[in-house]
Amino acid sequence: MMEKPKNQIMVIFGASGDLTYRKLIPALYALYNQQMLPDNFHVLGVSRTAISNEAFREKMTDGIQKFSENIHLNDREVEEFKAHLSYFQMDMTIPDEYLRLKTVLNEINEKEGTDSNYMFYLSTPPSMFSVISGNLGKVGLSNALDGFRRLIIEKPFGYDLESGLTLNRQLHEAFTESQIYRIDHYLGKETVQNLLVMRFSNGIFEPLWNRNFVDHVEITSAESIGVEGRGGYYDGSGALRDMLQNHLLQVVGLTAMEPPSSMEADAIRNETMKVLQSLKPIREEDVAGQVIRGQYMASNVRGESIPGYREEKGVNPESRTETFVAMKFYIDNWRWGGVPFYIRTGKRLPTRVTEIVVHFKPTPHGLFKKDEVCQNCNQLIIRIQPDEGILLKFGLKQPGAGFNVKTVNMDFHYSELSDAHLPSAYERLIYDAMIGDSTLYARADAVEAAWKFVAPIQKVWDNDTDQKIYGYPAGTWGPENADDLIEKDGTGWRYPCKNLVDDGEYCEL
Ligand code: BG6
Repeated sequence: MMEKPKNQIMVIFGASGDLTYRKLIPALYALYNQQMLPDNFHVLGVSRTAISNEAFREKMTDGIQKFSENIHLNDREVEEFKAHLSYFQMDMTIPDEYLRLKTVLNEINEKEGTDSNYMFYLSTPPSMFSVISGNLGKVGLSNALDGFRRLIIEKPFGYDLESGLTLNRQLHEAFTESQIYRIDHYLGKETVQNLLVMRFSNGIFEPLWNRNFVDHVEITSAESIGVEGRGGYYDGSGALRDMLQNHLLQVVGLTAMEPPSSMEADAIRNETMKVLQSLKPIREEDVAGQVIRGQYMASNVRGESIPGYREEKGVNPESRTETFVAMKFYIDNWRWGGVPFYIRTGKRLPTRVTEIVVHFKPTPHGLFKKDEVCQNCNQLIIRIQPDEGILLKFGLKQPGAGFNVKTVNMDFHYSELSDAHLPSAYERLIYDAMIGDSTLYARADAVEAAWKFVAPIQKVWDNDTDQKIYGYPAGTWGPENADDLIEKDGTGWRYPCKNLVDDGEYCEL
Protein backbone atom coordinates (compact mmCIF):
# COMPACT_ATOMS: atom_id res chain seq x y z
CA MET A 1 0.00 0.00 0.00
CA MET A 2 1.20 3.45 -0.90
CA GLU A 3 1.88 5.58 2.17
CA LYS A 4 -0.16 8.76 2.20
CA PRO A 5 2.00 11.82 3.04
CA LYS A 6 1.11 13.91 6.07
CA ASN A 7 -0.94 17.05 5.49
CA GLN A 8 1.40 19.81 4.41
CA ILE A 9 2.13 23.03 2.56
CA MET A 10 4.77 23.02 -0.15
CA VAL A 11 6.35 26.43 -0.61
CA ILE A 12 8.14 26.85 -3.93
CA PHE A 13 10.66 29.70 -4.00
CA GLY A 14 11.35 30.84 -7.56
CA ALA A 15 7.86 29.81 -8.64
CA SER A 16 7.83 32.06 -11.70
CA GLY A 17 10.67 30.04 -13.23
CA ASP A 18 10.66 27.29 -15.80
CA LEU A 19 11.27 24.38 -13.45
CA THR A 20 8.05 25.03 -11.54
CA TYR A 21 6.04 25.34 -14.71
CA ARG A 22 7.57 22.42 -16.63
CA LYS A 23 8.42 19.91 -13.95
CA LEU A 24 7.28 20.58 -10.39
CA ILE A 25 3.64 21.42 -10.93
CA PRO A 26 3.08 18.67 -13.55
CA ALA A 27 4.71 16.22 -11.11
CA LEU A 28 2.46 17.41 -8.27
CA TYR A 29 -0.57 17.06 -10.49
CA ALA A 30 0.49 13.52 -11.45
CA LEU A 31 0.66 12.69 -7.74
CA TYR A 32 -2.78 14.23 -7.23
CA ASN A 33 -4.11 12.19 -10.12
CA GLN A 34 -2.90 9.02 -8.40
CA GLN A 35 -4.26 10.08 -5.00
CA MET A 36 -0.74 10.26 -3.64
CA LEU A 37 -0.97 13.78 -2.21
CA PRO A 38 -2.07 14.35 1.39
CA ASP A 39 -5.73 14.85 2.16
CA ASN A 40 -4.99 18.46 3.08
CA PHE A 41 -2.31 20.14 1.03
CA HIS A 42 -1.48 23.47 -0.46
CA VAL A 43 1.19 24.73 -2.84
CA LEU A 44 2.36 28.30 -2.31
CA GLY A 45 4.39 29.72 -5.18
CA VAL A 46 6.79 32.48 -4.11
CA SER A 47 8.84 34.87 -6.21
CA ARG A 48 9.54 38.52 -6.87
CA THR A 49 7.37 38.73 -10.00
CA ALA A 50 4.06 40.53 -9.53
CA ILE A 51 1.29 38.19 -10.63
CA SER A 52 -2.15 37.46 -9.21
CA ASN A 53 -3.24 34.17 -7.71
CA GLU A 54 -5.46 33.64 -10.72
CA ALA A 55 -2.70 34.31 -13.27
CA PHE A 56 -0.39 31.92 -11.39
CA ARG A 57 -3.03 29.19 -11.40
CA GLU A 58 -3.65 29.69 -15.12
CA LYS A 59 0.05 29.47 -15.96
CA MET A 60 0.42 26.31 -13.89
CA THR A 61 -2.60 24.75 -15.57
CA ASP A 62 -0.96 25.46 -18.88
CA GLY A 63 2.21 23.73 -17.60
CA ILE A 64 0.18 20.67 -16.58
CA GLN A 65 -1.41 20.49 -19.99
CA LYS A 66 1.86 20.87 -21.87
CA PHE A 67 4.29 18.87 -19.78
CA SER A 68 2.41 16.07 -18.04
CA GLU A 69 3.98 12.70 -18.79
CA ASN A 70 2.38 9.27 -18.79
CA ILE A 71 -0.94 10.29 -17.30
CA HIS A 72 -4.39 10.78 -18.60
CA LEU A 73 -5.42 14.42 -18.07
CA ASN A 74 -8.80 14.99 -16.55
CA ASP A 75 -10.10 18.57 -16.88
CA ARG A 76 -12.33 18.44 -13.85
CA GLU A 77 -9.50 17.12 -11.75
CA VAL A 78 -7.09 19.78 -13.04
CA GLU A 79 -9.63 22.41 -11.92
CA GLU A 80 -9.83 20.84 -8.46
CA PHE A 81 -6.06 20.66 -8.20
CA LYS A 82 -5.71 24.29 -9.24
CA ALA A 83 -7.71 25.37 -6.21
CA HIS A 84 -4.84 24.13 -4.01
CA LEU A 85 -2.39 26.62 -5.54
CA SER A 86 -1.74 30.21 -4.54
CA TYR A 87 0.95 32.79 -5.04
CA PHE A 88 2.88 35.13 -2.78
CA GLN A 89 5.07 37.96 -4.01
CA MET A 90 8.14 38.83 -1.96
CA ASP A 91 11.76 39.89 -2.18
CA MET A 92 13.63 36.82 -0.97
CA THR A 93 16.72 38.84 -0.04
CA ILE A 94 14.95 40.95 2.63
CA PRO A 95 14.76 39.25 6.04
CA ASP A 96 11.61 41.13 7.13
CA GLU A 97 9.69 39.79 4.17
CA TYR A 98 9.85 36.36 5.81
CA LEU A 99 7.68 37.64 8.67
CA ARG A 100 4.99 38.40 6.10
CA LEU A 101 5.51 34.95 4.62
CA LYS A 102 5.17 33.40 8.05
CA THR A 103 1.85 35.17 8.56
CA VAL A 104 0.55 33.97 5.20
CA LEU A 105 1.65 30.41 5.96
CA ASN A 106 -0.15 30.55 9.33
CA GLU A 107 -3.31 31.68 7.59
CA ILE A 108 -3.16 28.95 4.94
CA ASN A 109 -2.32 26.39 7.60
CA GLU A 110 -5.39 27.38 9.67
CA LYS A 111 -7.66 27.40 6.65
CA GLU A 112 -6.45 24.19 4.99
CA GLY A 113 -5.70 22.11 8.08
CA THR A 114 -2.13 21.33 7.05
CA ASP A 115 -0.93 20.57 10.61
CA SER A 116 1.95 23.12 10.48
CA ASN A 117 3.99 20.89 8.18
CA TYR A 118 6.01 22.93 5.71
CA MET A 119 8.26 21.84 2.87
CA PHE A 120 10.37 24.55 1.24
CA TYR A 121 11.50 23.89 -2.32
CA LEU A 122 14.24 26.23 -3.54
CA SER A 123 13.86 26.49 -7.28
CA THR A 124 16.11 29.54 -7.40
CA PRO A 125 19.64 30.39 -8.52
CA PRO A 126 22.10 28.64 -6.19
CA SER A 127 23.37 31.95 -4.84
CA MET A 128 19.98 32.23 -3.08
CA PHE A 129 20.14 28.89 -1.23
CA SER A 130 21.94 30.12 1.86
CA VAL A 131 20.12 33.48 1.79
CA ILE A 132 16.68 31.83 1.86
CA SER A 133 17.56 29.10 4.33
CA GLY A 134 19.20 31.66 6.64
CA ASN A 135 16.18 33.96 6.49
CA LEU A 136 13.77 31.09 7.11
CA GLY A 137 15.86 30.24 10.15
CA LYS A 138 15.78 33.82 11.46
CA VAL A 139 11.99 33.93 11.63
CA GLY A 140 11.74 30.45 13.14
CA LEU A 141 10.43 28.78 9.96
CA SER A 142 13.11 26.07 10.09
CA ASN A 143 12.13 25.07 13.60
CA ALA A 144 10.29 21.76 13.58
CA LEU A 145 8.52 22.28 16.88
CA ASP A 146 4.88 22.05 15.89
CA GLY A 147 5.18 20.19 12.57
CA PHE A 148 7.94 19.14 10.17
CA ARG A 149 10.10 21.58 8.24
CA ARG A 150 11.97 20.33 5.17
CA LEU A 151 14.20 22.06 2.68
CA ILE A 152 14.67 20.79 -0.88
CA ILE A 153 17.47 22.12 -3.06
CA GLU A 154 18.73 21.31 -6.53
CA LYS A 155 22.28 21.20 -7.75
CA PRO A 156 24.73 22.83 -8.07
CA PHE A 157 25.64 22.21 -4.45
CA GLY A 158 28.62 24.52 -4.62
CA TYR A 159 31.16 25.03 -7.33
CA ASP A 160 34.07 23.14 -5.88
CA LEU A 161 35.07 21.48 -2.62
CA GLU A 162 35.47 24.71 -0.72
CA SER A 163 32.18 26.29 -1.80
CA GLY A 164 30.42 22.92 -1.34
CA LEU A 165 31.63 22.80 2.26
CA THR A 166 30.62 26.43 2.81
CA LEU A 167 27.13 25.82 1.43
CA ASN A 168 26.60 22.81 3.68
CA ARG A 169 27.80 24.79 6.67
CA GLN A 170 25.43 27.65 5.85
CA LEU A 171 22.45 25.35 5.35
CA HIS A 172 23.22 23.62 8.64
CA GLU A 173 23.00 26.95 10.47
CA ALA A 174 19.22 26.86 10.00
CA PHE A 175 18.35 23.24 9.11
CA THR A 176 19.65 19.92 10.39
CA GLU A 177 20.97 17.43 7.82
CA SER A 178 17.88 15.26 8.25
CA GLN A 179 15.70 18.21 7.19
CA ILE A 180 17.67 18.81 3.96
CA TYR A 181 16.80 17.04 0.71
CA ARG A 182 19.36 17.53 -2.09
CA ILE A 183 17.86 16.53 -5.40
CA ASP A 184 19.90 14.62 -7.91
CA HIS A 185 17.25 13.92 -10.50
CA TYR A 186 19.21 10.90 -11.78
CA LEU A 187 18.42 9.13 -8.54
CA GLY A 188 14.74 9.73 -9.29
CA LYS A 189 14.94 7.76 -12.53
CA GLU A 190 13.19 4.39 -12.34
CA THR A 191 16.00 2.55 -14.06
CA VAL A 192 18.62 3.99 -11.73
CA GLN A 193 16.64 2.70 -8.77
CA ASN A 194 16.28 -0.57 -10.57
CA LEU A 195 20.02 -1.05 -10.16
CA LEU A 196 19.39 -1.75 -6.49
CA VAL A 197 16.68 -4.29 -7.23
CA MET A 198 18.56 -5.95 -10.04
CA ARG A 199 21.74 -6.31 -8.02
CA PHE A 200 20.29 -7.24 -4.67
CA SER A 201 17.21 -9.29 -5.46
CA ASN A 202 18.91 -11.78 -7.79
CA GLY A 203 21.37 -14.45 -6.83
CA ILE A 204 22.74 -14.60 -10.37
CA PHE A 205 24.41 -11.20 -10.66
CA GLU A 206 25.82 -10.53 -7.24
CA PRO A 207 28.38 -13.38 -7.15
CA LEU A 208 29.92 -12.05 -10.38
CA TRP A 209 29.83 -8.39 -9.36
CA ASN A 210 33.46 -7.95 -8.37
CA ARG A 211 37.11 -7.86 -9.42
CA ASN A 212 37.28 -11.62 -9.92
CA PHE A 213 34.80 -11.61 -12.78
CA VAL A 214 34.47 -8.05 -14.01
CA ASP A 215 37.08 -6.82 -16.44
CA HIS A 216 35.97 -3.20 -16.54
CA VAL A 217 32.90 -1.01 -16.23
CA GLU A 218 31.86 1.62 -18.72
CA ILE A 219 29.28 4.34 -18.08
CA THR A 220 28.09 6.70 -20.78
CA SER A 221 25.71 9.59 -20.48
CA ALA A 222 25.38 11.17 -23.89
CA GLU A 223 23.18 14.03 -24.96
CA SER A 224 22.47 15.15 -28.49
CA ILE A 225 21.33 18.62 -27.42
CA GLY A 226 23.69 21.54 -26.93
CA VAL A 227 23.45 24.12 -24.16
CA GLU A 228 19.89 25.09 -25.14
CA GLY A 229 19.90 28.76 -24.17
CA ARG A 230 21.70 28.03 -20.88
CA GLY A 231 25.07 29.18 -22.23
CA GLY A 232 25.55 31.71 -19.44
CA TYR A 233 25.14 29.10 -16.71
CA TYR A 234 26.92 26.32 -18.56
CA ASP A 235 30.00 28.33 -19.42
CA GLY A 236 30.66 28.78 -15.71
CA SER A 237 30.06 25.11 -15.08
CA GLY A 238 31.11 22.60 -17.77
CA ALA A 239 30.45 18.89 -18.06
CA LEU A 240 32.56 17.93 -15.04
CA ARG A 241 30.43 19.99 -12.65
CA ASP A 242 27.14 19.80 -14.55
CA MET A 243 26.96 16.02 -15.00
CA LEU A 244 29.94 14.08 -13.71
CA GLN A 245 30.45 15.31 -10.14
CA ASN A 246 26.79 14.65 -9.36
CA HIS A 247 24.71 12.43 -11.66
CA LEU A 248 27.45 10.13 -12.94
CA LEU A 249 29.20 9.66 -9.61
CA GLN A 250 25.85 8.83 -8.00
CA VAL A 251 25.33 6.18 -10.68
CA VAL A 252 28.85 4.87 -9.98
CA GLY A 253 27.91 4.73 -6.30
CA LEU A 254 24.85 2.55 -6.94
CA THR A 255 26.68 0.35 -9.45
CA ALA A 256 29.63 -0.33 -7.17
CA MET A 257 28.15 -0.22 -3.65
CA GLU A 258 28.15 -3.09 -1.16
CA PRO A 259 24.78 -4.60 -0.23
CA PRO A 260 23.18 -2.30 2.36
CA SER A 261 22.18 -3.78 5.71
CA SER A 262 18.56 -2.74 5.05
CA MET A 263 16.57 -0.59 2.67
CA GLU A 264 16.62 2.30 5.17
CA ALA A 265 17.72 5.61 3.66
CA ASP A 266 20.89 5.88 5.67
CA ALA A 267 21.86 2.24 5.21
CA ILE A 268 21.83 2.77 1.44
CA ARG A 269 23.41 6.19 1.56
CA ASN A 270 26.20 4.92 3.83
CA GLU A 271 27.14 2.37 1.18
CA THR A 272 27.09 4.74 -1.80
CA MET A 273 29.08 7.21 0.26
CA LYS A 274 31.74 4.57 0.99
CA VAL A 275 32.16 4.10 -2.76
CA LEU A 276 32.68 7.82 -3.26
CA GLN A 277 35.17 7.86 -0.42
CA SER A 278 37.04 4.92 -1.98
CA LEU A 279 37.50 6.52 -5.39
CA LYS A 280 41.22 6.44 -5.99
CA PRO A 281 42.33 10.07 -6.08
CA ILE A 282 43.60 11.17 -9.47
CA ARG A 283 46.93 12.87 -8.89
CA GLU A 284 47.46 16.22 -10.57
CA GLU A 285 50.25 14.77 -12.71
CA ASP A 286 47.88 12.03 -13.92
CA VAL A 287 45.02 14.29 -14.95
CA ALA A 288 46.17 14.65 -18.56
CA GLY A 289 46.44 10.86 -18.95
CA GLN A 290 43.23 9.90 -17.15
CA VAL A 291 40.82 12.71 -17.96
CA ILE A 292 40.04 13.98 -21.45
CA ARG A 293 38.00 17.11 -21.97
CA GLY A 294 36.44 18.28 -25.20
CA GLN A 295 34.36 21.08 -26.64
CA TYR A 296 31.97 20.75 -29.56
CA MET A 297 32.67 22.60 -32.77
CA ALA A 298 30.34 23.70 -35.55
CA SER A 299 29.24 20.93 -37.81
CA ASN A 300 26.49 19.67 -40.03
CA VAL A 301 24.44 17.01 -38.30
CA ARG A 302 21.94 15.10 -40.43
CA GLY A 303 21.44 18.08 -42.70
CA GLU A 304 21.22 20.65 -39.92
CA SER A 305 23.93 23.18 -39.39
CA ILE A 306 24.91 23.19 -35.70
CA PRO A 307 26.86 26.11 -34.23
CA GLY A 308 30.01 25.47 -32.24
CA TYR A 309 29.92 25.84 -28.45
CA ARG A 310 31.87 29.11 -28.58
CA GLU A 311 29.20 30.60 -30.85
CA GLU A 312 26.36 29.84 -28.43
CA LYS A 313 24.60 32.74 -26.73
CA GLY A 314 26.07 33.57 -23.34
CA VAL A 315 29.31 31.67 -24.01
CA ASN A 316 32.71 33.38 -24.03
CA PRO A 317 34.02 33.20 -27.64
CA GLU A 318 37.35 32.00 -26.22
CA SER A 319 35.82 29.70 -23.67
CA ARG A 320 37.81 26.71 -22.40
CA THR A 321 34.77 25.17 -20.72
CA GLU A 322 34.37 21.48 -21.49
CA THR A 323 31.18 20.14 -23.06
CA PHE A 324 32.59 16.62 -22.95
CA VAL A 325 34.58 14.69 -20.41
CA ALA A 326 35.85 11.12 -20.38
CA MET A 327 37.66 9.67 -17.42
CA LYS A 328 39.36 6.49 -16.28
CA PHE A 329 39.55 5.79 -12.58
CA TYR A 330 39.67 3.04 -9.97
CA ILE A 331 37.79 2.27 -6.80
CA ASP A 332 40.23 1.31 -4.10
CA ASN A 333 38.38 -1.34 -2.15
CA TRP A 334 38.20 -5.12 -1.89
CA ARG A 335 35.41 -5.53 -4.39
CA TRP A 336 36.82 -3.35 -7.14
CA GLY A 337 40.60 -3.11 -6.60
CA GLY A 338 42.29 -3.00 -10.04
CA VAL A 339 39.08 -2.83 -12.11
CA PRO A 340 39.11 0.23 -14.37
CA PHE A 341 35.97 2.33 -14.60
CA TYR A 342 35.57 4.45 -17.71
CA ILE A 343 32.93 7.16 -17.72
CA ARG A 344 32.07 9.79 -20.27
CA THR A 345 29.45 12.43 -20.77
CA GLY A 346 28.97 15.15 -23.32
CA LYS A 347 26.67 17.44 -25.21
CA ARG A 348 26.13 17.37 -28.97
CA LEU A 349 27.01 13.69 -29.22
CA PRO A 350 25.24 11.54 -31.84
CA THR A 351 22.32 10.55 -29.62
CA ARG A 352 20.81 10.74 -26.12
CA VAL A 353 21.70 7.62 -24.20
CA THR A 354 22.64 6.81 -20.62
CA GLU A 355 23.82 3.30 -19.89
CA ILE A 356 26.12 1.18 -17.78
CA VAL A 357 28.09 -1.60 -19.43
CA VAL A 358 29.61 -4.28 -17.22
CA HIS A 359 32.28 -6.12 -19.20
CA PHE A 360 32.96 -9.56 -17.75
CA LYS A 361 36.34 -11.23 -18.05
CA PRO A 362 36.89 -13.63 -20.91
CA THR A 363 37.10 -17.37 -20.24
CA PRO A 364 40.48 -18.37 -18.81
CA HIS A 365 41.33 -20.57 -21.75
CA GLY A 366 40.38 -20.01 -25.39
CA LEU A 367 38.89 -23.25 -26.73
CA PHE A 368 37.64 -21.72 -29.92
CA LYS A 369 39.75 -20.18 -32.65
CA LYS A 370 40.57 -16.59 -31.87
CA ASP A 371 38.97 -15.12 -34.97
CA GLU A 372 35.90 -17.23 -34.38
CA VAL A 373 35.36 -16.05 -30.85
CA CYS A 374 32.54 -13.59 -30.56
CA GLN A 375 33.14 -9.91 -30.20
CA ASN A 376 31.38 -8.00 -27.45
CA CYS A 377 30.33 -11.16 -25.62
CA ASN A 378 30.15 -11.15 -21.86
CA GLN A 379 28.51 -7.78 -21.50
CA LEU A 380 25.64 -6.76 -19.33
CA ILE A 381 24.14 -3.46 -20.40
CA ILE A 382 21.87 -1.59 -18.07
CA ARG A 383 20.06 1.04 -20.04
CA ILE A 384 18.96 4.05 -18.01
CA GLN A 385 17.42 5.93 -20.96
CA PRO A 386 15.93 5.72 -23.56
CA ASP A 387 14.57 2.26 -24.45
CA GLU A 388 14.98 1.55 -20.74
CA GLY A 389 15.92 -2.04 -20.13
CA ILE A 390 18.61 -4.65 -19.75
CA LEU A 391 20.65 -6.46 -22.38
CA LEU A 392 22.91 -9.43 -21.84
CA LYS A 393 25.32 -10.25 -24.64
CA PHE A 394 26.97 -13.65 -24.76
CA GLY A 395 28.31 -16.19 -27.21
CA LEU A 396 26.43 -19.16 -28.68
CA LYS A 397 27.21 -21.61 -31.41
CA GLN A 398 26.55 -20.51 -34.92
CA PRO A 399 24.40 -23.29 -36.41
CA GLY A 400 26.18 -25.50 -38.93
CA ALA A 401 29.62 -27.02 -39.29
CA GLY A 402 32.48 -26.18 -36.94
CA PHE A 403 32.34 -24.26 -33.73
CA ASN A 404 31.85 -20.70 -34.72
CA VAL A 405 30.78 -18.50 -31.89
CA LYS A 406 28.19 -15.81 -32.44
CA THR A 407 27.17 -12.97 -30.10
CA VAL A 408 23.54 -13.23 -29.15
CA ASN A 409 21.32 -10.93 -27.12
CA MET A 410 18.89 -11.43 -24.31
CA ASP A 411 16.98 -8.29 -23.69
CA PHE A 412 14.28 -6.92 -21.47
CA HIS A 413 12.54 -3.61 -22.14
CA TYR A 414 10.72 -1.68 -19.47
CA SER A 415 8.06 -0.78 -21.99
CA GLU A 416 6.96 -4.41 -21.83
CA LEU A 417 5.60 -3.70 -18.36
CA SER A 418 3.04 -1.59 -20.12
CA ASP A 419 0.49 -1.56 -17.33
CA ALA A 420 2.96 0.12 -14.99
CA HIS A 421 2.96 3.90 -14.67
CA LEU A 422 6.58 5.10 -15.00
CA PRO A 423 6.72 8.09 -12.68
CA SER A 424 8.84 11.05 -13.73
CA ALA A 425 11.94 11.66 -11.61
CA TYR A 426 10.33 14.70 -9.98
CA GLU A 427 7.15 12.84 -9.20
CA ARG A 428 9.08 10.17 -7.37
CA LEU A 429 11.40 12.58 -5.57
CA ILE A 430 8.71 15.03 -4.44
CA TYR A 431 6.60 12.18 -3.12
CA ASP A 432 9.58 10.76 -1.23
CA ALA A 433 10.33 14.13 0.37
CA MET A 434 6.67 14.46 1.32
CA ILE A 435 6.77 11.19 3.21
CA GLY A 436 10.20 12.00 4.66
CA ASP A 437 12.17 9.32 2.78
CA SER A 438 15.60 10.65 1.86
CA THR A 439 16.99 7.48 0.25
CA LEU A 440 17.14 9.04 -3.19
CA TYR A 441 18.56 12.33 -2.03
CA ALA A 442 22.24 13.18 -1.85
CA ARG A 443 23.67 13.51 1.64
CA ALA A 444 26.12 16.28 2.58
CA ASP A 445 29.07 13.92 3.10
CA ALA A 446 28.54 12.24 -0.30
CA VAL A 447 28.41 15.59 -2.09
CA GLU A 448 31.61 16.59 -0.32
CA ALA A 449 33.34 13.30 -1.22
CA ALA A 450 32.40 13.83 -4.87
CA TRP A 451 33.81 17.36 -4.84
CA LYS A 452 36.97 16.07 -3.23
CA PHE A 453 37.41 13.53 -6.01
CA VAL A 454 37.10 16.08 -8.83
CA ALA A 455 39.13 18.78 -7.04
CA PRO A 456 42.55 17.89 -8.54
CA ILE A 457 41.02 17.87 -12.02
CA GLN A 458 39.44 21.27 -11.49
CA LYS A 459 42.72 22.59 -10.13
CA VAL A 460 44.77 21.40 -13.09
CA TRP A 461 42.25 22.61 -15.66
CA ASP A 462 41.93 26.00 -13.98
CA ASN A 463 45.60 26.67 -13.47
CA ASP A 464 47.58 24.87 -16.11
CA THR A 465 47.01 26.64 -19.40
CA ASP A 466 48.96 23.94 -21.24
CA GLN A 467 46.26 21.37 -20.41
CA LYS A 468 44.52 20.54 -23.65
CA ILE A 469 40.87 20.88 -24.44
CA TYR A 470 40.11 18.98 -27.63
CA GLY A 471 37.58 20.08 -30.20
CA TYR A 472 35.09 17.57 -31.61
CA PRO A 473 32.58 18.15 -34.39
CA ALA A 474 29.02 18.35 -33.07
CA GLY A 475 27.25 15.05 -33.67
CA THR A 476 30.30 12.84 -33.07
CA TRP A 477 31.35 10.73 -30.07
CA GLY A 478 33.74 13.35 -28.66
CA PRO A 479 37.45 13.81 -29.29
CA GLU A 480 39.54 10.89 -30.57
CA ASN A 481 41.70 11.20 -27.47
CA ALA A 482 38.75 9.82 -25.49
CA ASP A 483 38.90 6.72 -27.66
CA ASP A 484 42.65 6.45 -27.04
CA LEU A 485 41.99 6.64 -23.30
CA ILE A 486 40.20 3.30 -23.38
CA GLU A 487 41.77 1.73 -26.47
CA LYS A 488 45.27 1.87 -25.03
CA ASP A 489 43.99 -0.62 -22.43
CA GLY A 490 43.03 -2.99 -25.24
CA THR A 491 39.31 -2.33 -25.24
CA GLY A 492 36.91 0.28 -26.62
CA TRP A 493 33.73 2.21 -25.92
CA ARG A 494 30.38 0.85 -26.87
CA TYR A 495 28.78 3.30 -29.30
CA PRO A 496 25.13 2.97 -28.32
CA CYS A 497 22.09 3.66 -30.43
CA LYS A 498 18.70 4.78 -29.15
CA ASN A 499 17.53 1.22 -29.55
CA LEU A 500 19.10 -0.97 -26.92
CA VAL A 501 19.69 -3.99 -29.13
CA ASP A 502 21.56 -2.86 -32.23
CA ASP A 503 24.23 -5.22 -33.63
CA GLY A 504 24.86 -3.15 -36.68
CA GLU A 505 21.56 -3.98 -38.28
CA TYR A 506 19.52 -1.03 -37.18
CA CYS A 507 20.79 1.96 -35.27
CA GLU A 508 18.51 4.84 -34.51
CA LEU A 509 20.21 8.05 -33.42
C1 BG6 B 1 21.00 18.44 -15.77
C2 BG6 B 1 22.08 19.22 -16.46
O1 BG6 B 1 21.31 18.26 -14.42
O2 BG6 B 1 20.87 17.17 -16.40
C3 BG6 B 1 21.77 19.39 -17.92
O3 BG6 B 1 22.21 20.50 -15.85
C4 BG6 B 1 21.52 18.05 -18.56
O4 BG6 B 1 22.83 20.06 -18.59
C5 BG6 B 1 20.50 17.24 -17.76
O5 BG6 B 1 21.03 18.29 -19.87
C6 BG6 B 1 20.39 15.84 -18.30
O6 BG6 B 1 19.32 15.20 -17.70
P1 BG6 B 1 18.52 14.03 -18.43
O7 BG6 B 1 17.51 13.60 -17.42
O8 BG6 B 1 17.94 14.61 -19.67
O9 BG6 B 1 19.54 12.97 -18.73
